[in-house]
Order: sequence, then structure tokens, then C-alpha cells
Amino acid sequence: MFKLAIVLALACFAHSLPTQESETRNVQIITRAQWGARAPNSRTTLATPVPEVIIHHSFSPGACWSQSACATAMRSMQNHHMNTNGWADIGYNFAVGSDGLVYEGRGWTTQGAHAPAVNSRSIGICLIGNWSTTSPPAVQLTATQNLINMGMSNGRIQRAHWLRGHRQVTATDCPGNTLFNTIRSWPNFRA
Ligand SMILES: *[C@@H]1O[C@H](CO)[C@@H](O)[C@H](O)[C@H]1NC(C)=O
Ligand SMILES: [Zn+2]
Repeated sequence: MFKLAIVLALACFAHSLPTQESETRNVQIITRAQWGARAPNSRTTLATPVPEVIIHHSFSPGACWSQSACATAMRSMQNHHMNTNGWADIGYNFAVGSDGLVYEGRGWTTQGAHAPAVNSRSIGICLIGNWSTTSPPAVQLTATQNLINMGMSNGRIQRAHWLRGHRQVTATDCPGNTLFNTIRSWPNFRA
């Protein structure tokens, strides 16, 4: 009887595992080495778990639909951020492609350069593409939400975080009207 109770309790526990625990295992991160990143010029440690997640679009480069195209987009953004903007590295903590893969930028523990007012208290995620009038594909949106869930599971993003679009903290159209309207319905979106 006692053994049966334990088995039932375990079965219930397995069924009640939050969705995000299983989604965390679905996040496929393409490392800096895999996309051919340059070394950063310097880094500042990010205090985690952060209280905010900021969503961006790249605008340019446009959407990428394969790992090789997204790796090219990552190198192009990194070159622009380092050579033209004079930043230490690609600005974003992560980027997500229309291939459904996550590309490591500065990662979970390095402060980004993506939204000056909140760089020190946020993870910046860029959905590669111009999402002003078209929507990212479902795989790109899902990968982004899975990445946020992963950050909550691994203690890098506060569970009670605020999710905001770049335009809410800086005068910009980013992350594009269509993507911004989509994230307004996401958990933790903060008006
Ligand atoms: C982004 O999309 C908008 C709307 O389709 C278009 O007007 C604009 O030229 C595009 N910009 C880039 C850089 O692709
Ligand atoms: Zn932005």
C-alpha cells in the first residue's frame, strides 16, 4: 500500500512538472564558436537573475532561415556593433533565427549593449529579421519563449520579470509593429 502511494505520488509529480521544464530541453543554442564569433574586446558581468527581458528585431539583416544564413547574420551584426558602433561585442545577449535556433551573443552572464537604460538589468533577445509588417514564423517565436523559460529555470531571469519591447525603453520602432503586437500577449509582458 505504501509502495503504491509512492508510485502514485511520483506519477502525479511527473505529470505536474511545469511545461517550461520540458521546453528548456528543446532549446538548441548555437555557440559563438559555431557561428564564428570574434572574441569580445571586454566584458562586464551581468548581475542575475535579471528582472527584465527586452525583445528586439534586427531590422537589417533580414530574416535567416538556415543555420549558415543565421551564422552569417550574426557575424554581420557583430562586425557592425564592434566596428561601426565601437561596442565590445555583438550587443545582444541572444538572437533567434527563423530556423528556430538560438544563437549565443553575450550569453547569460555578460551585460549587453542593446537598450542603454536597462542593459545592466536585462537580457536582450533579438529576433533576426524585419518584423514591422510580417510576423516571425512560429518556430522563431516558440524558440524565444523557450529561451526565456530556460533563463527562469537556470536562475538567470527572475520568474516575476517584466517582458518589454525595445521601444518601451528607447525611442525606436524596434521590435517592429507586428512582433511588438505579438509579444503583448506573452506571459510577463509589462505595458
Ligand atoms: C522593413 O519592412 C518594412 C515594411 O515592409 C519596409 O518598409 C522596410 O523597407 C524594411 N526595412 C528593411 C531594412 O528591410
Ligand atoms: Zn532593438
